[in-house]
Amino acid sequence: MARVFISHATPDVAIATLIRDWLGTDHETFLEVHPEDGIQVGEAWRERLHDELRKADAVVCVVSEASIASSWCTAEVAIADALGCLLLPVQLEGVIHPLIRHLNHIPHTTAREHLEKALRQFDAGGRKLAKDQEPFPGLDAFTTSLSAVFFGRDQETRALARKVRRGPGLLTVVGPSGCGKSSLVKAGLLAQLADDPRWLVMPPWLPGNDPLDALSRAVRKTAERVGHDWSLQEARDRLVLDGLHGVAQELVDEDRRLLITIDQAEELFTRADEKDRQVLANLLREGLGDRVRVIATLRSEFLDDLRTLPELAGVHIGSYVLAPLAREVLNIVITGPAKVAGLKVHPELVAQLVEDTASGEALPLLAFTLQHLAMNVPRGGTLSSERYEHLGGVHGALAQHADDVLDGAVSETGLGKEELLSRLAMLAALDHTGLPTRKRVNLAQLDETAQKALEVFVRHRLLTANGDKQGRWIGVAHEALFTEWRPLRNAIDERQIGLRAAQSVELDASQWIEGARADHLLLNEDTFAAIEPLVSDDDLSPDARRYLATSRVRIHALQRQRRHERRRTTSWLAVFLVAAVGAAGLAAFQWHTASAQRDAATARALVAQAQVVRNSAPQLALRLRIAAHALAPSPDTELADAARACAVASGGLSRHEWQQHLPGLAYRDTCARQEN
Ligand SMILES: Nc1ncnc2c1ncn2[C@@H]1O[C@H](COP(=O)(O)OP(=O)(O)O)[C@@H](O)[C@H]1O
Ligand SMILES: [Mg+2]
Repeated sequence: MARVFISHATPDVAIATLIRDWLGTDHETFLEVHPEDGIQVGEAWRERLHDELRKADAVVCVVSEASIASSWCTAEVAIADALGCLLLPVQLEGVIHPLIRHLNHIPHTTAREHLEKALRQFDAGGRKLAKDQEPFPGLDAFTTSLSAVFFGRDQETRALARKVRRGPGLLTVVGPSGCGKSSLVKAGLLAQLADDPRWLVMPPWLPGNDPLDALSRAVRKTAERVGHDWSLQEARDRLVLDGLHGVAQELVDEDRRLLITIDQAEELFTRADEKDRQVLANLLREGLGDRVRVIATLRSEFLDDLRTLPELAGVHIGSYVLAPLAREVLNIVITGPAKVAGLKVHPELVAQLVEDTASGEALPLLAFTLQHLAMNVPRGGTLSSERYEHLGGVHGALAQHADDVLDGAVSETGLGKEELLSRLAMLAALDHTGLPTRKRVNLAQLDETAQKALEVFVRHRLLTANGDKQGRWIGVAHEALFTEWRPLRNAIDERQIGLRAAQSVELDASQWIEGARADHLLLNEDTFAAIEPLVSDDDLSPDARRYLATSRVRIHALQRQRRHERRRTTSWLAVFLVAAVGAAGLAAFQWHTASAQRDAATARALVAQAQVVRNSAPQLALRLRIAAHALAPSPDTELADAARACAVASGGLSRHEWQQHLPGLAYRDTCARQEN
């Protein structure tokens, strides 16, 4: 329901009242002279007018000679225009308002139908559900084309639209994964602005690992929409040479604004590398202004990262915090889309679904269940309670479906379940809070069997695929799959060591970057030797990959230097040994060296594991270091007295702990050595 403000001059009060009657109770309409909800005797009228104007989504202006002559009416039009409200000029005696001459003026004799239509379109985001369109998108976010079946977020859409219209700067929509950020922006906000002639809405894009390429693609599509036939390269060149502001000047006139939407902006930190992030942030900083507005959906835990980007210093970064859907509106998100699509749902089933969903935090699960309940049900059909039971309820449907798809993938590909799950687990990375977060992988980089296996999951919509110039990228449809499907969660847990190792490399890499990439912040030889085999390149951000590669180069250089020095020493040593101890003595020396080497290697593995768990289990990390020190003391195993005392007090590593943290490495009882 749109809030409508009727602006008119005193002589035109009759037509203004008529308009209010036309709109009836379908909209919240404000007319200052209305006896009930207009301005009351003794009320501070200026404040009230300002307040109503600020709250309005649409302003109907009765345009006449009198209204143009009235400075107050002119101010109302100018304010509404500046706030970005939907302006609907209704014309008396063919008069055109000079401030909004670019807008179509509707003669008052035919205005009723036009106004009703424009406001209905505004309410529905201007779209209907196409015949073959499903009303429930499942794990996917709602898109602009699904705005007609997007329910439960009217207030939020309105509040967000108001913030965007008011600008300026960069507005983030923040909230936890799955609370509905992408859906709100696409099916709520963008659908509303798409029909507003004063906005040119760029299709939303994900930064991925090449944000400039992603933005260039969106620019190309937007340019096409306004009649420019730019190639992708041309769009990119324009961005690089003229900046966003220059591009906007070519795409929109002075009285229009360009809205750029970055979806899943956390990818700027999880997928793009530092250089590409900087390029994009610089483009945004220079481009943002009255003509260019940017909105970004972002998981809350990345807001600080965005706010502290040096390239965005001085940019106003606003945030709109999206709370999970309230329990009271769960009902409407089930019945609303069903009604639009002509599907029937028994009230008992609705009540059951609401009860089982319990809170808006399980929204992706509800969405998934609804999609499967409605699958292949024709228009006019009924969603069935039996099918709901069969699906396994809101909390069981996703897991049960995933189990079935896994079985199907086993028979289609010939791969075992474990193998398939470990491939799926590659689609998760741990973020810096330790939560699994989605990652997309390039299909071209996988072997043929893996490609075939993942395609099975794409076909059943548990994974999504999209393409760019680097190929076809696959990722989970929603992170809920990681948390709700136990076999996959277990597979991810098994990869924990690798993922944790990757996480610790990420942490070190960020310190290295903050520390001006100083050599002493690179991994030392022992840690590198033990950590490198644990991490897969796919789990690392480009920054962390670069950190690991730079560490490798430095270690190789140090090793070369040491080999060179050792060659000189060993030649002297060999002469000494042959001359002084003879063959038997040499054998004993070699045995001792081999055992020392074994100890040193084990100690290295212990230190590396300590490095891996140092944030998640600091006490264990200390004990691992003590064990390493007992086997082969080195500067890496050295601990301050207090830390050492505290770790020794909690005991040596048990055989069980050893096997858990150092699988594949023979157990060494280090307790006795520690006491020495
Ligand atoms: N208003 C809504 N009504 C019903 N389902 C919704 C609504 N908003 C989001 N969803 C569903 O919730 C899940 C998460 O939505 P999404 O927009 O992807 O969240 P986020 O971007 O915060 O992760 C998706 O399955 C989506 O279809
Ligand atoms: Mg999202």
